[in-house]
Amino acid sequence: CQRWYHKNVVDHYEKPRNVGSFDKKDLDVGTGLVGAPACGDVMKLQIRVDEAGNIVDSCFKTFGCGSAIASSSVATEWVKGRSIDDVLTIKNSEIAKHLSLPPVKLHCSMLAEDAIKAAVKDIHAKRAKAQPQTGGMGEEKLAAAAAS
Ligand code: FES
Repeated sequence: CQRWYHKNVVDHYEKPRNVGSFDKKDLDVGTGLVGAPACGDVMKLQIRVDEAGNIVDSCFKTFGCGSAIASSSVATEWVKGRSIDDVLTIKNSEIAKHLSLPPVKLHCSMLAEDAIKAAVKDIHAKRAKAQPQTGGMGEEKLAAAAAS
């Protein structure tokens, strides 16, 4: 039932941006893998982060509905060029608004917000592991953002 899909959903669904995969073992790659229990859809969003904490590239693979694919496509575009702290402020409601998602499809955009947060958490964890002396930095901020 495509009839209510906004043109932005159709655009991102038919021409998804940044589909692909980075090697999740790369130290500069953060991987967020999240699923929606309600429908079983799965989204993987990855970010490549430079030394300064800026996202230089992003890609996704989504097994799910058109809204989830469009939401992840938008998310990869929105995170590029921003810092890993900054992207934690991206809300699913902004993505849903951009795509004009109806209430029944809000959880699809929620997946994208969760995937961004999970990818940032992953890169923090990797960096903490690589440099034990700065371990845990940023975790409180992430927890606060996740709880908000
Ligand atoms: Fe589940 Fe869209 S229907 S992510």
